[in-house]
Amino acid sequence: MEIKAIAGDIVKIETGAVIVNFFEDSGQPEGDAAAVDTAMDGAISRLIKQGDIKGKLNEITLLHCVGKLPSAHVVVVGLGKKPKLTLDKVRGAVGEVCRYLRQKSIDRIATGLLGAGVNGFKTGDAVQAITEGAMLGLYTFRKHMTKKENNHTEVKEFAIVGRDKASMARAVNRGKIIAEAVNWTRDLVNEPSNFMTPAAMAEAARKIAGDYGFKIEVLEKQQMASLGMGALLGVAQGSQQSPRFIILTYKGKKSNTVDMALVGKGITFDSGGIDIKPQEGMHEMKGDMAGGASVLAALTAIARLKAPFNVTALVPATENMPGGSAQKPGDVVTAMNGKTIEVLNTDAEGRLILADALSYARKLEAKAIIDVATLTGACRAALGTICTGAFTNNQAFIDKLIAAGNEVGELMWQFPMFEEYDEQIKSDVADIKNLGGKFAGAITAAKFLAEFIDNTPWVHLDIAGTSDTDKDKGYQVKGATGVPVRALVNLVLKMSKE
Ligand code: BES
Ligand code: ZN
Ligand code: ZN
Repeated sequence: MEIKAIAGDIVKIETGAVIVNFFEDSGQPEGDAAAVDTAMDGAISRLIKQGDIKGKLNEITLLHCVGKLPSAHVVVVGLGKKPKLTLDKVRGAVGEVCRYLRQKSIDRIATGLLGAGVNGFKTGDAVQAITEGAMLGLYTFRKHMTKKENNHTEVKEFAIVGRDKASMARAVNRGKIIAEAVNWTRDLVNEPSNFMTPAAMAEAARKIAGDYGFKIEVLEKQQMASLGMGALLGVAQGSQQSPRFIILTYKGKKSNTVDMALVGKGITFDSGGIDIKPQEGMHEMKGDMAGGASVLAALTAIARLKAPFNVTALVPATENMPGGSAQKPGDVVTAMNGKTIEVLNTDAEGRLILADALSYARKLEAKAIIDVATLTGACRAALGTICTGAFTNNQAFIDKLIAAGNEVGELMWQFPMFEEYDEQIKSDVADIKNLGGKFAGAITAAKFLAEFIDNTPWVHLDIAGTSDTDKDKGYQVKGATGVPVRALVNLVLKMSKE
């Protein structure tokens, strides 16, 4: 799909459909919608008067232009109540409308600047959100379908029509870079585990390293052993697939500091290991590397947007399998920082591989660390699929990340980290255990991770509930969501300006 910015008049565009918006509380068409309404001899205002167009969020009304405009159709999309409009709602509405039009095989679309000027939204930010909405909403994963054509045509052209072409084109470019990073994440996460092995994940990282000039290092088993990554190796030992530890470095400025380490859980399949999972939903565990994919993708966007910041992505990648040589409940392993861990449940493997990855980030002397992981069912039970669980040792840092997420519509909710929870991960035979008991599972998992951090400002994001979705909605498409790529990119862009 080609996305372009056009300086011009929406009523003069020759295309398959033009999109204009209507607010629930505005009474009559405004802006582009008013211009289209006039050209259509008042068709839109009549529909509003009749109550056919109400302006509820994501309400879609398709009109045929019957020669009154050069475009074949007009779509009026509802954006809800004006004071409640956010750019994320614009992103979602564009995603919905694009899928609706694709379903009708309308493959050329033009839109006005939905949301621009409302609630102080800048044109550039609206254009970026519109671009992201179209690209994210039209995402498909059809790689393994032998029937290559869909039962509709794909959208070929998407034009955003406004006044200042140059600044709009820059905003389109930003949106494109970010949406491509999110869709790249979705591709990796949706990929079945017989394709997306640890080696394949390392190959994907090599590809982006080549494309964007990152330094890349991929550690194999031997090197992990000499670094003392006993927790990661313990998880890997039950699988026929050999593990990888991916280190990808972007240098956006001269100094050699690591301003930020982004650590992502890279379990390419989580069977549970010897504590094997029940059948129901086990296939979803092909997506247990979503955190790892998201930090790699975030790095691509950070580099393409040329953030003056040094960021290193770390991904411990392995399967968690119950092979004959698998680790067993009760085993004790030693992590890279020297701490010993009693493995009381082999299905709590995420925190084990992150123990070594966080230790590695500390060894790099990263100034700040964020880890992203599909870590606990408990987090999904607590927050559902609406927001990501967030945990920290540094309130100012998490405030920044949560704010960056809110700005782009990736919601996060902070959990407590009271000292009192530490008791739940004390072991009888080792320094700590990987199981926190029946209650507060998301928190005790975070408490376990904190054992490998010390004082470095750190946030842990548990995306178990937000990394995939079971339905198309707004700019989300059934399957992997690509959360929290956009929040991470936004945070780094903001921090690099400080
Ligand atoms: N990958 C899972 C967590 C998960 C669950 C992610 C559902 C996405 C959806 C993780 O490795 C796991 O199995 N966690 C266990 C931990 C428990 C054994 C302490 C869990 O949450 O049940
Ligand atoms: Zn598990
Ligand atoms: Zn897991």
